[in-house]
Amino acid sequence: MDFELKTLGLDGAAQEKCDALLVLLPEGAKPGADPLSRMATDAIKARSFDTKPGKTLQSWRPQGIAASRVVLAGVGDASPRRIYAAVYSLVASLRNAGVRRLVVCLPAAADGRGVRAAVAAAAEACYVYVSTRSKPEGVEIDRVVIGCADAPAARADFATARAAALGIELARELGNLPPNRATPTRLGEEAKKLAKAAGFRCEVLGPKEVAKAGMGSFMAVAQGSEEPLRFIILNYQGAAASQAPVVLVGKGITFDSGGISIKPAPDMDEMKFDMGGAASVLGTFRALAELKPRINVVGLIPTCENMPSGRAFKPGDVITSLSGQTIEVLNTDAEGRLILCDALTYAARFKPRAVIDIATLTGACVIALGHVRSGLFATDDTLADALLQAGELALDPCWRMPLDEEYGEGLKTHFADVANVGGRAAGSVTAAKFLQRFAGKQPWAHLDIAGTAWKSGAAKGATGRPVGLLVQYLLSQQGEGAAAKAAKPGAKALAKAPVKRAGKAASPAPRKRAGAGSRAASRAG
Ligand code: BES
Ligand code: MN
Ligand code: ZN
Repeated sequence: MDFELKTLGLDGAAQEKCDALLVLLPEGAKPGADPLSRMATDAIKARSFDTKPGKTLQSWRPQGIAASRVVLAGVGDASPRRIYAAVYSLVASLRNAGVRRLVVCLPAAADGRGVRAAVAAAAEACYVYVSTRSKPEGVEIDRVVIGCADAPAARADFATARAAALGIELARELGNLPPNRATPTRLGEEAKKLAKAAGFRCEVLGPKEVAKAGMGSFMAVAQGSEEPLRFIILNYQGAAASQAPVVLVGKGITFDSGGISIKPAPDMDEMKFDMGGAASVLGTFRALAELKPRINVVGLIPTCENMPSGRAFKPGDVITSLSGQTIEVLNTDAEGRLILCDALTYAARFKPRAVIDIATLTGACVIALGHVRSGLFATDDTLADALLQAGELALDPCWRMPLDEEYGEGLKTHFADVANVGGRAAGSVTAAKFLQRFAGKQPWAHLDIAGTAWKSGAAKGATGRPVGLLVQYLLSQQGEGAAAKAAKPGAKALAKAPVKRAGKAASPAPRKRAGAGSRAASRAG
């Protein structure tokens, strides 16, 4: 599907030849003398229509209007949220309705944010999963024209929304693929394909290289599966190599059975979505390829299955992470943090200005925030604020959660430096506290997308979140990092072989050792 942006008022919209014309009408707008205004005024007078959100009126080939089908839709205050809702429901209703070319005429008062909302909503409503259907359902809509009062002024917002939509589409498609297709190997191939098409560097490590690097925690999760793990490293360079990159780390569990701490059967199929973080990193790189912002970004994706087997890791096992910290596994279903911790340690070699991990990490986050906002944890207020703001602007919101030292208490154990689970209380926070031990001193944020990465029930499917948030955040960082020079260019670090450490439990990590208890590390951020 293709988008186009055009300067269009109601008079112009009436002359647009298309299969369907969607006219968004705000409360209190002054009607003109054009045919669409007259139609709206008449309908309001006859009480067949009003401009409250959710109200619509359809007509077929009305006089003086070039479109075959016209839909008037009330959008109340014409806020981006209202525009999104109106466009989404109308475009969804026009699927499989013989509409190829669609024109959306925004209220005259709508600005760039309105344009973004319209693009995002139309793209979201047009997506259909086809990969593994033998008789795919069609959508037909192949061109959406967004009409607004001042197209040149909204050009940048339009480009952002269009690129984000492509990234979201990729993330949804990968997320929706069944787990026998979206294997770690496949994700590695998708990353390579993406990098090749866009001209950025990509390296995919297999079991041997990951073992050599010393990622003992990541390897422990993968060892119960027949599918070989992959560690994906993507490198987008849009600024000078001397500029410190933002590192995105995505959880890529392509199927989470829970392992030996196996999950109950109902809805276990949804654990194919446990690679939503990885999909969002790939989707974000898809958008970077379009927008080419002046910033450096590294993407890290540890990806594997979490399966029970005779070779699987077990509750009670003590494993050694890349950082040197030892971890007692008390629950093999808390596997996300075990693959992420090694990736967070790995991230330090890029001397990043910020590290952001994205993970479908805890059911507890779904209990806390539901399916509306992603959970945000951060050791740095500037980073947290930038992510919160990006989420609002992209209509992909998150909410900040705490990281008080006391939340880390439950992770103490006699048998290792840290346990992989605490108690039941504040489960999303203890998970974040675990990760924080491995994030080190670099500004770090963690997005728990367990409630937002996919929908259950009749609308079951990946959402592509938080690609919109991440793209917006990265765009907002252009120029910001010019001062924050990397000691060593991230580019060189990519090609570099393993970190200089022995990889044994007894040997201390190169950067810092957290100490036997969890408190020392809890203070780090
Ligand atoms: N992938 C799950 C988190 C999850 C569960 C997301 C349900 C969405 C819906 C994660 O690996 C997991 O199993 N977490 C456990 C942690 C627990 C064992 C401490 C959870 O949330 O139950
Ligand atoms: Mn799990
Ligand atoms: Zn998981």
